[in-house]
This record gives sequence, structure tokens and C-alpha cells, in this order.
Amino acid sequence: TEGAGGPAPTGSLIVVSNRQPYRHEYETDQSGESEKTADSGRSITVDEPTGGLTAGLDPVVQQTDGTWIAWGDGEADFDVVDDNDCVAVPPDEEAYTLRRIDLCEEAVDSYYYGFSNRVLWPLCHGFPDLTEDRANDFDWYRTVNERFADAVADHADAESIVWLQDYHFALAPRMIREAVPQGTTIAQFWHVPWPGPSTFRYCPAGGNLLEGLLGNDLLGFHVDRYVDRFLECVDRFLPAATVDRNRGTVRYDGTTTQVVATPMGVDARSYDQTARSIDEEAFASLRSEHDVPHPDDAVIGIGVDRLDYTKGIPERLAGLERFFERYPDWRGEFTFVQKATLSRTDIPVYERHGELVRSEVERINSRFGTDDWQPIVYTESYLEEEQLCALYRAADTMLVSPLVDGMNLVAQEYVAASVEETGDTLLLSDRAGAHELLGTHAITIDPTDIDGIANRLADALAMPIGERRNRMRTLRDRVFDADLERWMSVQFDWIARVRNDPDRRLSG
Ligand code: G6P
Repeated sequence: TEGAGGPAPTGSLIVVSNRQPYRHEYETDQSGESEKTADSGRSITVDEPTGGLTAGLDPVVQQTDGTWIAWGDGEADFDVVDDNDCVAVPPDEEAYTLRRIDLCEEAVDSYYYGFSNRVLWPLCHGFPDLTEDRANDFDWYRTVNERFADAVADHADAESIVWLQDYHFALAPRMIREAVPQGTTIAQFWHVPWPGPSTFRYCPAGGNLLEGLLGNDLLGFHVDRYVDRFLECVDRFLPAATVDRNRGTVRYDGTTTQVVATPMGVDARSYDQTARSIDEEAFASLRSEHDVPHPDDAVIGIGVDRLDYTKGIPERLAGLERFFERYPDWRGEFTFVQKATLSRTDIPVYERHGELVRSEVERINSRFGTDDWQPIVYTESYLEEEQLCALYRAADTMLVSPLVDGMNLVAQEYVAASVEETGDTLLLSDRAGAHELLGTHAITIDPTDIDGIANRLADALAMPIGERRNRMRTLRDRVFDADLERWMSVQFDWIARVRNDPDRRLSG
């Protein structure tokens, strides 16, 4: 079958992700349109999925009558989980089951704020100095992985396809393998980079993680570089495994894992359509609510990121400061809008990073700002998809300058939303996975080269319109060709291949 999310796989699909596709707020009040009465008699206010992976996968799971298992937002006693937290979604169609695993405070602190985001996140992004290996974090990570694996086992049969998302579940695949019938296909996509052996060697319980991941039949990364590094790490740290670099396979403990690079895309058509529908009102609301100048009144550059130390925001700000120093004609003419989304603020390094970013914005604004112009408009407020697209439309250029990034979907969203023929430009870090897709027609920057950022920005703003248009047309072709639907169908093609491979699970 073909649908909004592309071809669906045969066999029931069980998706596992840390973030859930629908948030429900439980209320006692029975009024209001979006409410629904649950079996327990409570009513549920349902939010639609918002953006990204969850929005893209949702229609696929709907087609398969599948199950989605995710961390719930209820704070639970760790042992009081489950069946009352199975709900049918989406609200009006009840196409599949959303099963939420509620976690107690300690589990959240150790599994999510601990091992996932104090160890794996910095390590995978090549920041071993920022890792904090606290007592109990790994144990909780294992416990939560076990809990998710148990939940998968409740729903899986020999025809099922289990599809895990990301670094929160490195141990679960092997646990699932042990608990489900032979024939179940297990796949995982790792959305962040994979580090080289010289970094991975600092990973606590690194061998266990590799063993866990090699419980998958299929393991996907965004780009070849991460696949190569993963295979190198297995070669080096798991001597009992047999790595075939040419075929991208690993044979370990009775399972063959196919490791592939399948770069993820965005729902380009949807960004394109929303961007085309933007009207004056949307620009006006951006101005009144977020101080974003009207596109007719200023040349606008933007940055849109989670407030994360991997995104290179301080370096970008330093580049902007250098730009205003070196190219004073742009003072008063060019405004940079930085939208930052607060993230993982319980972790001190994130908190400190947020403070640094805010104080740098303030300093640069007080250095160059005038009564009627501020060089940097900074906002941490939530933007509705329409406002985000209005911001993309308002921008003449975007700076995407992560120090390391698995892919960077924001760069692709911007391109998809650049519907005007004015020739917007994209400045893109050579250290983002997205650079492999867009590098030839974006303007490449080294995210640590402050002078380079300033000069490339000046180049972008001075580029003749014909060249800008040509570049953007090519960027748009690439983003539309490699969109989310395409990514999904490539995933399911691979899943079908490993599923039909008679040699994939020889015993012993
Ligand atoms: C990255 C990760 C995702 C994660 C997202 C937001 O893109 O790869 O798994 O969901 O960041 O971070 P958060 O910690 O808020 O889920």
C-alpha cells in the first residue's frame, strides 16, 4: 500500500522511540472539542504530532495497525506501568496502539538525563570531555531498555517488524531478540553520529552497547562515515564479531546485522505548502510577538536550533560579531534572528551553555545596537509550524553551523520552505551530515572559523541573484528527492531484504 508516509511494510510494525507521537493531557473536565473519554472515565486532550520523525512515521504505523511504544509523560512509580496507558491513536481514527512506558523520577534522571544525554550524546558527538559517568546511570539505562524490550515482546509475533529509534535504546535490540519468536525482524535507526574508536573507547560499558546493537537485523545511520566508524569500533572492541566491511555486515552470536547509510529527509511537500500559504498576518505576528523585522524592512539571516553545545551557536555569534566589525555597511541593514529551543536544561552543561549564548547575544547587541536596530533578535519561544515557516520565508539566508550533527534536518526544512524565487542562501557547516547532501550548492563553512563565517556571510549577501537562484533550485531538488517518504521507503526496502535473507540467523 502507498500512503502519506510511503510504502508500508508487511507484517505488524512496532515502533519504539523515546519521544511519543501524541501527547495526552489527562483532565477531569469533560468539556472541550478535542477531548475523549478513556476507559478509566478520565478524559484525554490529544495533541497532534508535531513535526519531525514522529509526524512522518505516524501515517506509516497507521497503515499497519501497529504499535508504538514510547516514554509517557506521566511520572509513575516505576512498577505501575502499562496497560492502562495503552491508548488508540489518532484520536478520531484509532488506527494503532500507543503504549506508553511511564518512568519514575530516578529512571528519568538516570536513563534520560544520565546515560543517554550525559554519556552517549556527548560521546557520539565527539565530546568525551563533557561526559559524566554517574553511578547508577548505566544500570537505569539497562533497566529502562529491559522495560521497553518486555513491552515489545508483549506485542511481537514472528511476522512483526520492530523498528527502534536512536541512542536511547542501544541495549534493547539484543534483549528483544532473546524474548521474541524467531522470524521477528529487528531494525534500528541511529539518528546521531557514531564516533571513531579513539572516542568510543571512553564509553562506559561500550562492549555491552555494541553487543546490544548487534541484536538488530538492520542498523541504519545517516551517512557512510558513521557506518565505517561503527564497523571499526566493532572490529576493535568486540573481537568475537566477524566484520565484513565491504558488505557492511557483522556476524555476532548467531545474528547477522546489516549496517547501512540511509540519510534521513524532511516532509518537503508539507514545508513547501505551509510556506506558500504564509500571508501578511504571519509576518505581522512574528513582528509583534517575536520582534522579527518584516522582510520588506531588513535583510534577514536566521539560525534555528535546539540550545545544545553541538550546534555551534557561540561560534556563530562570534562570526556575526566579526561580520559587523568588518562589514560596517551592513549595520542597521542586516538582522540575525536566532530561534533557540530550550533542551535538557536539567544538565548543568546545557544550563551553562544557555547562559553563555544569552550573554553573548546581549553583549553583541549592546556593542552594535542602536535605538532603532538590534543586530541579533533572540527568542526561545515556541513557534507554531506556520510561524516557523514564516520565519523561513522572511529569511534571506540561514546559518547552520553545528560543530557536529548527525544530519541536521533544519537545513532541509529551510530549503523546502524557500519557495520564493529570490534566491535565498544556505550557509552550512561541513560537519553536519546534511553537508553530504547539500554541500555542493550550499555555502560551506567551517563552524570554528570565526573569520570564515563572517566572510562567507558577506559573500552570501553579495552573491548575484542568478547564482543564488540556481543554487537554491538545486538544493530544493535534492531535498525533495531525498525526502522523508523516500527515507522511509528505503528503510522498508532494507527491512524486506534482511527479512528475506535465508542466512541471516544461523544458530550458534
Ligand atoms: C536529537 C535526537 C532525538 C531527540 C531530539 C530532541 O535529534 O537524535 O532522539 O528526540 O534530539 O531531544 P530530546 O532530548 O528533547 O528528545
